[in-house]
Amino acid sequence: MRHRTHTHTSPAPSTSIPHGATSPDAVSNAVSDAIIRVRDLTVRFGERTIFENISFDVPRGKVFVILGGSGCGKSTLLRTLTGLVTPVSGSIEYDGTEFLGSRDEARRAILRKFGILFQSGGLFASMTLAENVALPLQDATSLSEERLGEIVAMKLASVGLQGFEAFLPAEISGGMKKRAGIARAMALDPEILFFDEPSAGLDPISSAALDNLICELNTALGTTMIVVTHELQSIDDIADEVIMLDRSAKGIIARGTLDEVKAITDDKRVYNFFHRIVEA
Ligand SMILES: Nc1ncnc2c1ncn2[C@@H]1O[C@H](COP(=O)(O)OP(=O)(O)O)[C@@H](O)[C@H]1O
Ligand SMILES: [Mg+2]
Repeated sequence: MRHRTHTHTSPAPSTSIPHGATSPDAVSNAVSDAIIRVRDLTVRFGERTIFENISFDVPRGKVFVILGGSGCGKSTLLRTLTGLVTPVSGSIEYDGTEFLGSRDEARRAILRKFGILFQSGGLFASMTLAENVALPLQDATSLSEERLGEIVAMKLASVGLQGFEAFLPAEISGGMKKRAGIARAMALDPEILFFDEPSAGLDPISSAALDNLICELNTALGTTMIVVTHELQSIDDIADEVIMLDRSAKGIIARGTLDEVKAITDDKRVYNFFHRIVEA
């Protein structure tokens, strides 16, 4: 279980629900300091509905975990939040600004808030780690070579890769590739980092080290982390708040703090997930 203090988040003031505003559709995890507000989001691929009218808030500065069995739509949700999948309907607000349908400068302003860790790190094989991390900085800024080198070295050091600037991706381990991917995703100091199954393909030790790094960066920098995973150990180690998706429900079947969701006993789908129970 994750025990630590959040110095960078302010306590949530108690919210009062206006008279007559209660409804079964109300977002039960609605938080006062949400960095992302998703409302009534529906995603379909052709005839197939992946989510129908899902709503949730992502609290600022926390580690928010999207969980659920394979094929329930976790990656699709991440891709929708980052603009790679276009939903049929709904709203995604980043800091109060609508992302869906946004264009040009407004869209670029939102995209600048994110960093994304692709599976396998997504590094360019023919470029050194330093060149990989420098790429987003070269695209977005006009820093001198010298300044760029300093920032790249700092980013690599922040993920424990000081001294590896000149290495190629093929020359380092899987865990190090993921960390280099994080350094690149953080190059432009994003407010939100998205991770899709960050531990996939790693041994348990490297996987635990990566989870530690995610928590450390979250605590040190206050970066909101949105992590897709189905690994119980990772969920225990990193999650502040979770939502659980379900394939046949086409939506969210549990939400809340990790402790709240783990305490659910009256929904077999949720209980079985946390207790590794397979039903025939
Ligand atoms: N681009 C796509 N086109 C059609 N179907 C897709 C596409 N992406 C994902 N799917 C389908 O949507 C469902 C959810 O996929 P995904 O989001 O990858 O699940 P998860 O990440 O939870 O394992 C799967 O049945 C998958 O085959
Ligand atoms: Mg996936």
